Amino acid sequence: MRVRDLGVEDARAYRALSTGAFGGREPATGPRPFNPAETAIGIDSASLPGGVAGVIAAGARIRHDRITVGGGVAACGGVAGLAVHPAHRGNGLFGPLLTAVIARCQAEGMAFSMLYPSNPAIYRRFGYQEVARENEVQVPLGDLQRLRPVPGRRLVPVTEETMPRLRSLYRELTAGDNGMLLREGPLFPDGLPGDGWSAVLLEDAEGHDHGYMSWTRAAEYEAVEGLEVHEILGRTRQDRVALLQSLGSWSTVTAHARVRLRTEDPVLDVLPSGRLQAAPGILGIVMMRVIDTAAALEARPAPAGLDGAIRLVVEDSTVPGGTCRAAGTWIVRAHDGAISAQCVAEYDGQEARAGHAAASRPDQGGSSDGAVGEVRLDIHAASLLLAGGRCMADARRLGLLAEGDPTTARFLDALLAGPRPSVLDAF
Ligand SMILES: CC(C)(COP(=O)(O)OP(=O)(O)OC[C@H]1O[C@@H](n2cnc3c(N)ncnc32)[C@H](O)[C@@H]1OP(=O)(O)O)[C@@H](O)C(=O)NCCC(=O)NCCS
Repeated sequence: MRVRDLGVEDARAYRALSTGAFGGREPATGPRPFNPAETAIGIDSASLPGGVAGVIAAGARIRHDRITVGGGVAACGGVAGLAVHPAHRGNGLFGPLLTAVIARCQAEGMAFSMLYPSNPAIYRRFGYQEVARENEVQVPLGDLQRLRPVPGRRLVPVTEETMPRLRSLYRELTAGDNGMLLREGPLFPDGLPGDGWSAVLLEDAEGHDHGYMSWTRAAEYEAVEGLEVHEILGRTRQDRVALLQSLGSWSTVTAHARVRLRTEDPVLDVLPSGRLQAAPGILGIVMMRVIDTAAALEARPAPAGLDGAIRLVVEDSTVPGGTCRAAGTWIVRAHDGAISAQCVAEYDGQEARAGHAAASRPDQGGSSDGAVGEVRLDIHAASLLLAGGRCMADARRLGLLAEGDPTTARFLDALLAGPRPSVLDAF
């Protein structure tokens, strides 16, 4: 089955497929072209039994995002608008399409792929693993009245002019997270997002930025809870208090705010009362898949003070061999704050040329003859762990293959430590 690149001439047929599946209408002026930071691929209806020319039977877009990986940055293919035409559903197109998506992420040099599944089970079969869930709470605004103003902090309106300050704060304050999109153009255009989006910056008396809060105030006729808070990011605990205190000022017009949070968001720690409720509605699941194990590892810095090496084996039977570089055996080394992952053959060759005998020190997962402790992961465990913030025991609790002696496992856990992944942008 041939999966091909979709070009400008396919935009109309692809949009008919995606709006047919997910709703929405194309503007009367014609279909929007593909974003230059997306790769669109698809299968022609005409190539299938009963198919018709000019119709895309199955298609998907791959966003060229970059995400945070515990202080580093990795390229990530965000899968959006994946759909099969109703006339061709149930005929086995999903597998070849998703396999082509994975291969294309590899060809584009991506370390990971990410998606929001409507049906996680069908993606899990191809190595995608749930790494995060959207997280929203209902905050009773009356409770925030108890918060006192924070000295030395003032609020600044966010306009076209001050928006770059917010963008750079977002980048700075989420740099240590796992899974957060860097929000770069052209997927995230410069300027204000529009559609009622508003924000305030928090600065000190010298004009240095310390945080921001962004929200959308629902119009009176809309069924949504009064205030949707997208993000509350503060440099310190007190900065988050100052932003919540400002949120409390809405209590005269609405009783609750729906606040979107990161996984284990530090904002939760400064909410003054325990009267929180999960926001109603279905919260999205975020799945990720390793595309290139070495790139995924090398993208992140090694934690300070961690030195040593392990042998990492990743098994992937979910896609044909050669689809991507997730499976294989690597010597993974942490040294001087950096991680290197060398394919075993390449590693052995280099070591031999350099005349080095030892792969690592015995007390750090290796032995003096160069053999190192081994961790063996299936693709599901690799996708879970390499996204960051989870440990070998988490993978085993989920029934995934994550084997290794305790010392070696501890080394990998230390290497990938950090907050559990969060993603604040749905696509
Ligand atoms: C979901 C969708 C992409 C599946 O494509 P498809 O070509 O019909 O799927 P296939 O025929 O290749 O079947 C793949 C597997 O998915 C299962 N499947 C397909 N649709 C399903 C559904 N709605 N619910 C549960 N399982 C489903 C099939 O049973 C099959 O499993 P099997 O191999 O064990 O029989 C397609 O139905 C579709 O476009 N739906 C609307 C848009 C959508 O949901 N897109 C995904 C957004 S993340």
